[in-house]
Amino acid sequence: MNGTNPLALSGRVILITGGAQGIGEATARLCAERGAIVVIADVLREQGERTVSSIREASGSASFFYTDVRQPDQVSRLMDHIRDAHGRLDTMICAAGVLRGAWQQPEELTLEEFSLTMDVNVKGLFLCAKYATPLLVETGRGVVVIVASGAGVAGPSSSLAYSSSKGGANGFAMTLAARLGDRGVRVNVICPGNIVTELKLSVDIAAAKRQGESVEAAIKNAHQNYGLPMGVARIIAFMTSDEAEYLRGNVYTR
Ligand SMILES: NC(=O)c1ccc[n+]([C@@H]2O[C@H](COP(=O)([O-])OP(=O)(O)OC[C@H]3O[C@@H](n4cnc5c(N)ncnc54)[C@H](O)[C@@H]3O)[C@@H](O)[C@H]2O)c1
Repeated sequence: MNGTNPLALSGRVILITGGAQGIGEATARLCAERGAIVVIADVLREQGERTVSSIREASGSASFFYTDVRQPDQVSRLMDHIRDAHGRLDTMICAAGVLRGAWQQPEELTLEEFSLTMDVNVKGLFLCAKYATPLLVETGRGVVVIVASGAGVAGPSSSLAYSSSKGGANGFAMTLAARLGDRGVRVNVICPGNIVTELKLSVDIAAAKRQGESVEAAIKNAHQNYGLPMGVARIIAFMTSDEAEYLRGNVYTR
């Protein structure tokens, strides 16, 4: 793709939290293929570095910056690093997420698992938005894509903690869009359906174990019936492009 193609992302600096694996990784690969300068922020250092190497082998531009999105000092340092290394931030894709406590009854779910889920999926979003906003406003046409879910919004979930957090993520994004819209930053949400990733497989493995069923069969079923991360990545890449300038609110996928 060349610079005149509205789907091209040539020269855009794109931060992807949770970009080491899964939906974030597929998005990092595709954005880099379309010309973006990708920064992956994740807690999985080895996996993140592997993703970066393979993007570079395909002639893409990518780097890894260790960041736990729950930690204000780490998120703040990430944004300082982006300013120092690239001078700008055009797009932030928030894909970092966890799902804990699948299929547990309220009395089984621990406060630690509940809090961890809320911290990564909600507090992490707040911290990323808090420290990225000055950079995103400066570019004049910043974009934020929040990877939320229909869980806790369009229906229930396998996990009380997860649906609480994704309900929170959707609510956060609605208000963030209102706050930043007047400052030239577009905020959209994507709600993927069932996509075969580590996160989703852990849910199905937990269900199989709980019901005394075969874990192998659960994994096989997920691979046969669920969508692929790249399917969601194609939509996210579109959402970050100029072609999506008029897009508002949430997008739901299979
Ligand atoms: N897979 C699905 O079916 C599905 C459906 C709806 C929404 N989602 C959402 O999509 C997003 C991506 O999930 P995925 O399915 O690709 O799962 P995944 O487990 O493959 O990827 C999640 C990534 O987030 C990173 N991460 C976790 N905690 C972090 C932290 N504290 N700081 C920084 N990074 C952290 C992980 O290391 C991992 O790289 C999540 O927000 C998830 O809730 C997934």
